[in-house]
Amino acid sequence: MAWKSTSDSYGGVGIALHWIVAVLFVGMMVAGFAASSATDDSAKVAILSLHAPIGFAILVLTVARIVWWTWADRKPAAPSTVARWQSRVATAVHVGLMGAVLGLALSGIALFALSGAGAIVFGGDPQTLPDFWTFAPRYGHAVLARLAILLVALHVAAALYHQFVLKDHLLARMGVGR
Ligand code: HEM
Ligand code: HEM
Repeated sequence: MAWKSTSDSYGGVGIALHWIVAVLFVGMMVAGFAASSATDDSAKVAILSLHAPIGFAILVLTVARIVWWTWADRKPAAPSTVARWQSRVATAVHVGLMGAVLGLALSGIALFALSGAGAIVFGGDPQTLPDFWTFAPRYGHAVLARLAILLVALHVAAALYHQFVLKDHLLARMGVGR
């Protein structure tokens, strides 16, 4: 498989970045809701000690992805089975997903910075965790998480529709089932 994309298929770098972020993203959603429903602080600290660095890694990978698509590679054209409006909706969902993921990472980092949770989670400071809801970025984090779930649901539904109804092998463009 070539590193760069062709006119009808994603290249190795684009495929790797897509699936690494997709897997981390699903784990982050599970960890995020587990953190916010955890009743004791030590469990929440343990979850956040993974949630925060993995979220930071997603930020780095997402910036790398934007750099890659802007300066190094071009996405394949929409498949011929796709109408113009569908391809516009797909692009809007992709941009929305990237924006939601960036916003989640940045609001999460802001939340740690403002609340002093970093010293408790990473510095072993034995204080009790702050109530994150007293900091504004917590609301942004909650809204963006729900927006991202909605967009991923649309995105996956579209992928499944292509795969099983249109049978145009769309997933193969993203490296699945070649
Ligand atoms: C977990 C199930 C997922 C499936 C089955 C899936 C499937 C796909 C497929 C088949 C494409 C290629 C569309 C084309 O042929 O042009 C694609 C592109 C894309 N997907 Fe996903 N995806 C998933 C998760 C995610 C997640 C969680 C994100 C959020 C970051 C995401 C963001 C994108 C973006 C931005 C593109 C455009 C190409 C790119 O920039 O890499 N996907 N997806
Ligand atoms: C990049 C992707 C990220 C995703 C997908 C994500 C997802 C989530 C979700 C789904 C929740 C629960 C939301 C709710 O209950 O309303 C959450 C909570 C939280 N996240 Fe993230 N997050 C990300 C990044 C980060 C980062 C980078 C940090 C910190 C550096 C962070 C810190 C937190 C904190 C402190 C909470 C609140 C826990 C609580 O209320 O007790 N997140 N996250």
